[in-house]
Amino acid sequence: MDRGDLKELLLPVESDLKKFDALMDEFLQANSELISGVVKHLLQKRGKRIRPAIAFLISRTAGLKHPRMVEAALAIELIHTATLLHDDVVDESDTRRGQETVNYKWNNLVSVLMGDFFFAKAFRLLVETQSPELVRRVSLATEKVSFGELRQIEETFNWELDEDEYYNIIRDKTAALFSVSSSSCAILLNAGQKSIDQFGLFGERIGKAFQIADDILDFVGDSSKTGKGIGLDLLQGKVTLPLIYSLRTGQKEETEKIMGTLNNGLNKRSLKTILRFINDNGGIDFARKKAAYFGDGALEFICGFPKSRYRESLENLIKFTISRDN
Ligand code: IPE
Ligand code: IPE
Ligand code: MG
Ligand code: MG
Repeated sequence: MDRGDLKELLLPVESDLKKFDALMDEFLQANSELISGVVKHLLQKRGKRIRPAIAFLISRTAGLKHPRMVEAALAIELIHTATLLHDDVVDESDTRRGQETVNYKWNNLVSVLMGDFFFAKAFRLLVETQSPELVRRVSLATEKVSFGELRQIEETFNWELDEDEYYNIIRDKTAALFSVSSSSCAILLNAGQKSIDQFGLFGERIGKAFQIADDILDFVGDSSKTGKGIGLDLLQGKVTLPLIYSLRTGQKEETEKIMGTLNNGLNKRSLKTILRFINDNGGIDFARKKAAYFGDGALEFICGFPKSRYRESLENLIKFTISRDN
């Protein structure tokens, strides 16, 4: 699916996304040449805006409305952007959204401090929603993202990382923001613990599927579509689901050989060997199945709401998440 398809898919919430974009443009104005330069760079490739899209779609699907939804969605997207500014420094990435990363175009210092700036702006916006519960839950989600990123660093080059621990990491580093995004309207409306948890679990499932799909793309994606580098996870010792599965199920002798290759330091050639090992042992297929499993869990939840163009769009967005190529 390309950008045009995604845009079409999101037509039912186009007006929400327009307000969201307008508020973003206005809110990020700054009286500094440096900040304005970075903001201009970031705004010319906005990203997929999946977290706000889900927030708008699920609330409309469920018939929930709150006047501060756009602010809530923007705060969460700004936090997402801040984590990307930091993540690209951590991962030493030079491309994102098909253009140079801020750390590459400027430097690490600017990327980290712009990330901090975005965090600060996000929390100011959150306070303006006048919902202490939303502030609390978004704070918690942000803490989880940092925790997940740190846990991932802690597990770098641990080729024995198991599947459950991998799910814990992606639940924190990625699904936490999807979760709070999906429950933001229910939180603003003080909808009650049970309902908030249900919306949250729905988002968490999408977030897990989303990160598994992202991890698959790092092996088999097309850079011109993802807008990011390929093969970087392995080179940096990031252990993800396709590899975890293949190491667990591969034949002992071959697995030991691959372990040796992994431990000897990777290069572009050994990367190919490992990719073949993963493919031959069904690691990519298994990860695809798992992404579909989490996606199905999310789809099941929205089945309970009346049919509408919002629900249909959300269903398609979940399907896109699982099978995406960008
Ligand atoms: C990238 O998220 C980081 C992950 C959680 C994999 P997105 O793929 O949503 O990033 P943009 O905002 O669309 O660029
Ligand atoms: C997701 O991790 C980023 C965050 C949750 C902050 P990745 O490192 O896998 O994301 P990409 O591939 O850089 O987008
Ligand atoms: Mg990372
Ligand atoms: Mg990264």
